[in-house]
Amino acid sequence: MIAERSGAAMLELIKVSKEFRTGFLGRNITHAVIDASLCVDRGEIVGLIGESGCGKSTLGRIAVKLLMPSRGRIILDGVDVTDMPENQFRKFRRQMQIIFQHPETALDPQFTLVESILESFNKIGIPKEKQRELLEEISEEVNLPLDIVDRHPNQVSGGEIQRAVLTRVFAFKPRYLILDEPTSMLDVSVQAHILQLLKRKAKQDNMGMLFISHDLEVIRAMCDRVAVMKEGMILEEGMVKEIFNSPKSCYMSQLIENNV
Ligand SMILES: Nc1ncnc2c1ncn2[C@@H]1O[C@H](COP(=O)(O)OP(=O)(O)OP(=O)(O)O)[C@@H](O)[C@H]1O
Ligand SMILES: [Mg+2]
Repeated sequence: MIAERSGAAMLELIKVSKEFRTGFLGRNITHAVIDASLCVDRGEIVGLIGESGCGKSTLGRIAVKLLMPSRGRIILDGVDVTDMPENQFRKFRRQMQIIFQHPETALDPQFTLVESILESFNKIGIPKEKQRELLEEISEEVNLPLDIVDRHPNQVSGGEIQRAVLTRVFAFKPRYLILDEPTSMLDVSVQAHILQLLKRKAKQDNMGMLFISHDLEVIRAMCDRVAVMKEGMILEEGMVKEIFNSPKSCYMSQLIENNV
């Protein structure tokens, strides 16, 4: 699968494994991810589903090198970035952003929303005189009301925080976005808005997205392809329609049954 698709611009994870060692002298080993291969093309949304603890977040963090894999390769647009030193990887890091389930942890509680956003703009090197214009542009796109950006994270709703996080992330103009249960803490109507926005963004800006979720309905509505994970392994992967209509693994059939 990976070989067939290589050549196109994409994020590829090739036979990635991750073991965590805990306890006395690291004697307890958790095999969080085992030989997982996955690719995400530009403009494509790939879902990652599976029960709690199966390794989804670990794989998502490896994809942006927040975690190093124990084995396997991370390829970005054809470049093997696995062992690339941080100073060289920096330019790739900007192209790959991650959004977490608990948006409030992404923002410093001591900063107002706008301070957090502008801090990112400064990091990216956006000149001061262009920052206001960019803030207005992106906040309109993500539906973040500008009259609340002077508030601190504890003074706004979860949906508003997630929109502020998206404003920061979109300023980087990422090529790939990892979304780790980005809307599971939000109520249904806010969730729907943010999901629509993400889908539009993926298609408009040709952004590749790895979308981690427990929610099969969200995956079905959002994604082009989906990978099914169990106990650290990817059991099957394919077009959403195929996997949902005729799953190959008993596990996926069970997930679909239990979700109805
Ligand atoms: N830093 C860590 N140290 C030790 N074990 C860890 C660490 N991070 C994750 N694990 C373990 O690795 C396994 C996979 O965890 P992971 O967070 O990737 O699961 P998940 O599929 O994202 O679960 P959920 O759906 O609940 O978010 C779990 O058994 C978890 O306890
Ligand atoms: Mg997780």
